[in-house]
Amino acid sequence: MIKQLTVKNFRIFEEKTVDFQPGVNVILGKNGVGKTSLLEAIYFTSFTKSFKAPQDVDMIKQDADFFQTASLWEGNKYSKAQANYLKKKGKRFIFDDETMIRMADVIGSFPLVFQSPEDFRVTAGPSIERRGYFDRFISQISQPYLQDLITYRKLLKNRNAHLKQLSEKKEYRYTAQLEAYDEQLSPIMFRIVNTRRSYSEKFNKHLEELYKSTFDNGSTGTIVYKPSLTAKTEADFQIIHREQTQNNIDKEIILRRTLWGPNYDKYLFLRNDTPLIHYASQGEHKIWMTLLKLAEGEIITKLQKAEPIYLLDDLFAELDLNNSKRIVQKIMDAKQVLITTTDMSDLRRHGMDISKNNINVIEIA
Ligand SMILES: Nc1ncnc2c1ncn2[C@@H]1O[C@H](COP(=O)(O)OP(=O)(O)O)[C@@H](O)[C@H]1O
Ligand SMILES: [Mg+2]
Repeated sequence: MIKQLTVKNFRIFEEKTVDFQPGVNVILGKNGVGKTSLLEAIYFTSFTKSFKAPQDVDMIKQDADFFQTASLWEGNKYSKAQANYLKKKGKRFIFDDETMIRMADVIGSFPLVFQSPEDFRVTAGPSIERRGYFDRFISQISQPYLQDLITYRKLLKNRNAHLKQLSEKKEYRYTAQLEAYDEQLSPIMFRIVNTRRSYSEKFNKHLEELYKSTFDNGSTGTIVYKPSLTAKTEADFQIIHREQTQNNIDKEIILRRTLWGPNYDKYLFLRNDTPLIHYASQGEHKIWMTLLKLAEGEIITKLQKAEPIYLLDDLFAELDLNNSKRIVQKIMDAKQVLITTTDMSDLRRHGMDISKNNINVIEIA
């Protein structure tokens, strides 16, 4: 649970401290006062990145040359977190006076479920958005998976550089160097595919229950994971991977990039057995994503034996009133929720009982 957040030179804020309570915290304020930025600062502490800024430097307040976030936590691995970003020098994370050497050690220390209007890209955008979404989620829980992803990307980068060299020399053959890369890549790719599959299954189990308890009309939500390469055993995977690569090596060299493996995996989101991407309305996208987030929270709670905090940015925008009441009920039951809004009556309309005394309203002027 987060108890306090202080930001310095972060986005619109020169310096700002906010205190949070257990239960529901409503961050209230007009458009542009910095509500989303406060959630972004917490997200940064947990994921070492923004969920929207392509570069860390974008989060520095205009004309400043650093930003800092400091937060106090209870019931987490660390109780004090500081993140600094300095122009040209980069970022540094200090948790309980201990400097984190690897970004991989930061990720997962403060588990959270984050929802924002940007999530529309996950349901409506190209495959890379869904892969990125699941990769971020799994990385938060599994260090070995994160490590595999990091190694996989590094190997791919080198392999692609080698393909480029071959292409420039017009050498269209499977070199010993490519073989060496593929030998290293195969077991990593195999593990990535298996982990992705096992998490898709976990999500499906939770989605099934969540759909049942949210809708009376038998609506279903299912994730279909389609790996680019797959096999039952690591040895079989290696054979399939090798064959696919060797048979198409001309293509890879001409295009100068690796064409097989987890980077080409697909995730389909089905609502009532129909692909969401082609048929769903904005409201339906929003519900899908909200239930997916609740599934995230349940999976984190189960695997880490600790509940994540929920950061919900503009949750009620596009969320259909008819279906929101039960979803809101589930959210209200969470240990800690931070929710932004421009209008308290919007929360009431969506079924949130704001008279309850466990609601902490934080007004940002
Ligand atoms: N790096 C920055 N420096 C200064 N102001 C910024 C920076 N980035 C964004 N802003 C401003 O911060 C304001 C707050 O943004 P945001 O957190 O999205 O507000 P809200 O969610 O309350 O609508 C916006 O008006 C934006 O122009
Ligand atoms: Mg906002």
